[in-house]
Amino acid sequence: MDLELIVCEAKHAFSAASDIAALENEKARFLGKTGKLTKFLKGIGQLDPDMRKKEGAAINVAKHQIDMALQERRQVLSDALLDARLATEIIDVTLPGRGMGNGTLHPVLKTWERVEYIFRSIGFDVADGPEIESEWFNFTALNSPENHPARSMQDTFYIEGNDDTGKPLLLRTHTSPMQVRYAYMKKPPIKLIAPGRTYRVDFDATHSPMFHQIEGLWIADDVSFSDLKGIYTDFLRKFFENDDIQVRFRPSYFPFTEPSAEIDMYFQTGKNAGKWLEISGAGQVHPTVLRNMGLDPECHVGFAFGSGLERLTMLRYGVEDLRLFYENDLRFLRQFM
Ligand code: PHE
Repeated sequence: MDLELIVCEAKHAFSAASDIAALENEKARFLGKTGKLTKFLKGIGQLDPDMRKKEGAAINVAKHQIDMALQERRQVLSDALLDARLATEIIDVTLPGRGMGNGTLHPVLKTWERVEYIFRSIGFDVADGPEIESEWFNFTALNSPENHPARSMQDTFYIEGNDDTGKPLLLRTHTSPMQVRYAYMKKPPIKLIAPGRTYRVDFDATHSPMFHQIEGLWIADDVSFSDLKGIYTDFLRKFFENDDIQVRFRPSYFPFTEPSAEIDMYFQTGKNAGKWLEISGAGQVHPTVLRNMGLDPECHVGFAFGSGLERLTMLRYGVEDLRLFYENDLRFLRQFM
């Protein structure tokens, strides 16, 4: 059979192949081990050297032509395949992207900012301090001497290592150490709030090992319990957007205040109407604490309070289990967008 004829036949066969698989079969029919051209190639062994050279060259030309035809057809078929895919897999470029979603402030942080905002608006400074605290600031300076049973009011996480003066370190159990730290830095009159994280060995529906408090400190020469009651009542009414809230001071005990009080509030309307709810510890700064601040208790009077930010948040939004704040369940958190 003539070489030109084989080339021609191959070209026809290739263009008749309607998909890649069919094309590869046709390829085998010409270029495979028993293919037509291969047979031709095997035949030249019998020829004399001159003829063999001539025939060999001609076969190579034919093989090249068949290869080219094969490649061309492959290209055509794979282009067609791509076109078909592009036509079916439609991408709607106008669809909005999946995006990362907008984050939102945690409800406790919202309370934190809201409390800060309200107290700033009546002239309080805002400060923060270390969560890893020296035992001295957390307890001793606040009139809880070493081994004093009052320390057991707050179950404490101690940390390995000591502060600069060799005193043990712990995770602060309240924001009250900020009273002393701040009084070291600033002379009276002092109007301070210090929000932040605090830690205790506690875990149930209303306690978490990590929680938040906001400390208030007001030192001047002419403040009294009625001033504290006035600003705290005003704060609660603004915070809960409820002008009917009543406030009472109930006698209590803290080592660092004397006298000490628990602040209770009373809603006339809403979900908690008719109940007195405990909202904050408070009291007049103890003379020993004033002395530890470097102040003379004969000249200065101070008032302090410490409120839980989780508690304020739970009451504001009607959340019943504090653990919900820390479970990172987006279905819960998204309600506070
Ligand atoms: N630090 C106290 C507590 O965590 C609250 C408090 C602060 C009480 C300031 C009186 C004055 O329980």
